[in-house]
Amino acid sequence: MRLRYFSHSAVQITANNGKVLLIDPFLDGNPTSPVKSDEVKADYIILTHAHGDHLGDSFKIAERCGSLFICVNELANYCASKGFNAHNMHIGGARNFDFGRIKFTIAHHGSVTPDNQYAGEPAGVVLTIDGKSLYHTGDTGLFYDMKLIGEMTPLDYMLLPIGDNYTMGIEDAVKAVELAKPKTAIPIHYNTFSVIENDPELFKSRVEKIGLTCKVLKFGEEIEL
Ligand code: NI
Ligand code: MN
Repeated sequence: MRLRYFSHSAVQITANNGKVLLIDPFLDGNPTSPVKSDEVKADYIILTHAHGDHLGDSFKIAERCGSLFICVNELANYCASKGFNAHNMHIGGARNFDFGRIKFTIAHHGSVTPDNQYAGEPAGVVLTIDGKSLYHTGDTGLFYDMKLIGEMTPLDYMLLPIGDNYTMGIEDAVKAVELAKPKTAIPIHYNTFSVIENDPELFKSRVEKIGLTCKVLKFGEEIEL
């Protein structure tokens, strides 16, 4: 599979069979994304929670591409109420799709839609695609069960926030990597706004100090996983 990082929490995953997933596609209002919503396509849109910097341009993209939303029940119902196709899941549940497998995890955060509707619990996702596993934590504080998540699915990649203020900062994110033990940690959710400014190279050096690997992706960069 290929992973493209747009910045913030927005990523695109392309499975080897050509299926395209977007996670938290916040692009048009995102000052750091080099890509805008009319330039992307999506067979699936996965939302970790409903905050505007994650729901982002989902509806615009889904309207153009006919994407299927995959999210927790309450948020999936919200998407369906707007006329979109949505598959309801919930925390702890996994399911196979034509791109691979997705499992929802807990996240410690909030989740309300931009028009102020309760959208259920926030979540993270563990994806298993083309024989590789990737954990996108969503917005969350540090929690010890990240160790369990890494034990249940040995992780190739872990995408986790380092921007502080709303989520883990660097110190807690390093601990999260130590608990989940991914082969490669990738920092997200930083430098989009001044309130979440943080140094990904400092995070990388701290991860390396505990003997683990970190890759800092440029905004817009695409890599083969
Ligand atoms: Ni949030
Ligand atoms: Mn956020």
